[in-house]
Amino acid sequence: MSYETILVERKDSGVAIVRLNRPKVLNALNRQLMGELRDALEQLDNDEAVKVIVITGNERAFAAGADIKEMAPKGAIEMYLEDQFRTWDAIRRVRKPLIAAVSGYALGGGAELAMMCDIIIASDTAQFGQPEIKIGVIPGAGGTQWLPRLIGKSRAMELILTGRMFSAKEAYEWGLVSKIVPAEIYLEEALKMAEEIASMPPVAVQLAKEAINYAYQSFIM
Ligand code: CAA
Repeated sequence: MSYETILVERKDSGVAIVRLNRPKVLNALNRQLMGELRDALEQLDNDEAVKVIVITGNERAFAAGADIKEMAPKGAIEMYLEDQFRTWDAIRRVRKPLIAAVSGYALGGGAELAMMCDIIIASDTAQFGQPEIKIGVIPGAGGTQWLPRLIGKSRAMELILTGRMFSAKEAYEWGLVSKIVPAEIYLEEALKMAEEIASMPPVAVQLAKEAINYAYQSFIM
């Protein structure tokens, strides 16, 4: 697997690491990166030696959202025809556990990518947010659905309508992330957790993931 915008590493423990790698633009999610991410996740999901996948960025940014410069000149029809939801759907279909190891900015599509993962480990420098409203759009990759389910309607509404960033501490208190650790060890901690899960019976792990995620798809009438 050789890519230009992500780095993929497989460990003997059954853990694979996918690192978003456009540091100059804070890992902005352009079409190439999203295509490569989808391809890598599909391959890792089909690889029997891989049990758990960790998605990370760098210390400054997990991802600062969709690539605004790429998005800006495009009209609604062009965006529709590109069918970017196909990529996001593919990520949602990954059956193996996905752990997001987040440091620095996780904004817009970056926050949505983290929320699409099954577990989020955050460094104490992590800053989350859905700032799309400030550029006249709405969270386009599930943020309007994930946030209210994960942190409640009132907070989600406030954060999406104001676009304000929120800290790792807030995210932890609201249940969005499962652990905050110092920035120096956030990836190490995520890998430790990934290794522990990778040592569990794999079919039960995948079924448990599927069952828990079903709780977020069904509606309470
Ligand atoms: N797209 C493209 N480039 C981006 C980017 C993005 N989302 N975020 C940052 N960059 C680029 C900057 O343009 C800059 O590049 P240059 O040096 O070439 O100018 C570089 O990354 C560093 O960024 P800053 O100089 O702005 O760094 P900062 O520390 O001063 O600010 C920041 C950091 C607050 C995250 C700021 O960059 C920012 O507000 N970025 C935009 C965040 C945003 O609005 N994200 C939502 C995008 S829309 C979306 O995601 C839709 C969806 O739901 C899928």
